[in-house]
Amino acid sequence: MYDLDHIRHLVELDLEARLQLTSEHSSALVEAMKYSVCGTAKRVRAVLVCAASVGFGAEINTALPPAAAIELIHAYSLVHDDLPDMDDSDTRRGQPSCHKQFGSTIAILAGDALQTLAFSTILDAAELTEQQRTDCAAVLANASGWRYMVGGQAMDMELMHRAIHDLDQLFTMHEGKTGALFRAALEMGAIVAGFSRESEQFGTMSEAGTKIGIAFQLTDDYLDATAENEQLGKPAGADSLAGKKNAVAFLGTEETRNRAIQYLNEAVEILKSVDADMTLVQRLAEECVHRQS
Ligand code: IPE
Ligand code: IPE
Ligand code: MG
Ligand code: MG
Ligand code: MG
Repeated sequence: MYDLDHIRHLVELDLEARLQLTSEHSSALVEAMKYSVCGTAKRVRAVLVCAASVGFGAEINTALPPAAAIELIHAYSLVHDDLPDMDDSDTRRGQPSCHKQFGSTIAILAGDALQTLAFSTILDAAELTEQQRTDCAAVLANASGWRYMVGGQAMDMELMHRAIHDLDQLFTMHEGKTGALFRAALEMGAIVAGFSRESEQFGTMSEAGTKIGIAFQLTDDYLDATAENEQLGKPAGADSLAGKKNAVAFLGTEETRNRAIQYLNEAVEILKSVDADMTLVQRLAEECVHRQS
């Protein structure tokens, strides 16, 4: 039986091994990739893939390639998110953000390269069947592309400059920029365990993943307003400073917190309906909302 720390450790070792890259073209590029992936990250999305997979009875080794892939996509999204033309954030995970360390040019390219590395990690995974590779790649492409993660990021930036805002828009944005990767994490967990994209288990994990993702982003917005720089490892209060219409701007801190707990509770109810041991997924979902950073 695994626990979350053990899984996190395995994910960490696996990522480090995958980032041992050398390039005949640019050592700065691969250094920037390594810098952006390896460090003090929570690894929530990767651990969710593994926790869901083992919950369904799969071997953890089978889950590691898609777990690494989602973490690579996430790392790329943060590198680009911090760029001057996006959130213009100088720190990330307690150190200079990628463009501060390597410059914007290399940061943009490192993000691009991490994205394609994510897909080759899945497509080259000998641990998975051909069907599983195809399904995981399709799920990750769908979640991270124009329709969800990138779309949500575009909406996030556009909302700063619009006069009319409502709560539905906020949740659409949260579901896109953050919820979709969490959904993909639990969907890939089901795929690794042998379920098809048409299966009931896939659909249930999908629903739970979106809820956890929205709870996670609500908590991120809450922490932005209530925590300190050192605690977060990134600039606190950055959203309100930038005039971002995040959850706290719409709802205030208390209601943002309440909504995060509400989404968590809904996710837990869905997980309880799964005919498998989703204790670790549930525990991790709780950590997502009760975290300090
Ligand atoms: C930060 O994600 C970006 C959001 C979607 C809020 P995490 O809080 O998971 O960042 P790391 O990977 O632990 O640094
Ligand atoms: C980032 O959201 C979401 C993605 C990178 C997809 P935020 O902009 O709120 O994340 P932080 O607060 O910078 O980590
Ligand atoms: Mg952002
Ligand atoms: Mg940001
Ligand atoms: Mg944030």
